[in-house]
Amino acid sequence: MRKIAIINQKGGTGKSTSALNVAAGLARKGKKILLIDLDPQGNIATWFDVTPKQTLYHLLIEESTTPSDCVINVRPNLDILPSTKTAAQAEIILTGLPGREKILSRKLQSLKGYDFVLLDCAPSLNLLNQNAVTYATEALIPVSMDYLALVGVKQILENLKMIREILDHKIEVLLVIPTFYDRRNRKSREILDTLESHFNGKVAAPIRTNVRLAEAASHHQTIYEYDPDSHGARDYEDLTEQLLGGRKGHGR
Ligand SMILES: Nc1ncnc2c1ncn2[C@@H]1O[C@H](COP(=O)(O)OP(=O)(O)O)[C@@H](O)[C@H]1O
Ligand SMILES: [Mg+2]
Repeated sequence: MRKIAIINQKGGTGKSTSALNVAAGLARKGKKILLIDLDPQGNIATWFDVTPKQTLYHLLIEESTTPSDCVINVRPNLDILPSTKTAAQAEIILTGLPGREKILSRKLQSLKGYDFVLLDCAPSLNLLNQNAVTYATEALIPVSMDYLALVGVKQILENLKMIREILDHKIEVLLVIPTFYDRRNRKSREILDTLESHFNGKVAAPIRTNVRLAEAASHHQTIYEYDPDSHGARDYEDLTEQLLGGRKGHGR
């Protein structure tokens, strides 16, 4: 079971879009997927148009709640463990608990039957995210093509280093995902070059800016359902293949 956190403390870099469409892409390839939402905005439940009863909040706070109490099957091979705004309260309650960074790991210890667990993190370095990265062993980092996002990447790397050293947990960067890429835009090309020089061999084929990705969300669909011929669908399909160790991306 691979455990992958999708993380970047900057908002709007395509974390949720990537988490969801990668999860859906892997599920379509026959992999069993659990997608966990760690963001109190609750994007994942909204995206799939479900109203959860039990959520991450209950899992983290109530001793008797198990993952299967909270999991909702949304597509073949694809389960979600949703959050709502109550996740923000869980964060506050967790702060007072012993071993507070490892509560998610403890609650997911007996989780079985999935090929991939994907964790869609909130745009922060909060305790919920610390819980995500002490559970995950791999990180996917979506980076949008602007300079502030590059600064954010540095902070993530420092944070992962701290997790390794202080919490004694191994987590590696699997791939940096360039998002909102536009090859006609010089800034996009420059930032991609910078990423490639910093993350030699760990930069995924870029996800192009594609309005169909945003539209799919408002139609409660994955990009493969909403517009399978779009750039967005092709780019996320390439990324899915790359995660499975198959063919490389389409290049730029
Ligand atoms: N490649 C893309 N092209 C166009 N719009 C995108 C793309 N990726 C994400 N979006 C849109 O940008 C916004 C932020 O994306 P989101 O995935 O929610 O970011 P995050 O989870 O990092 O905050 C959303 O409205 C989403 O639909
Ligand atoms: Mg998000």
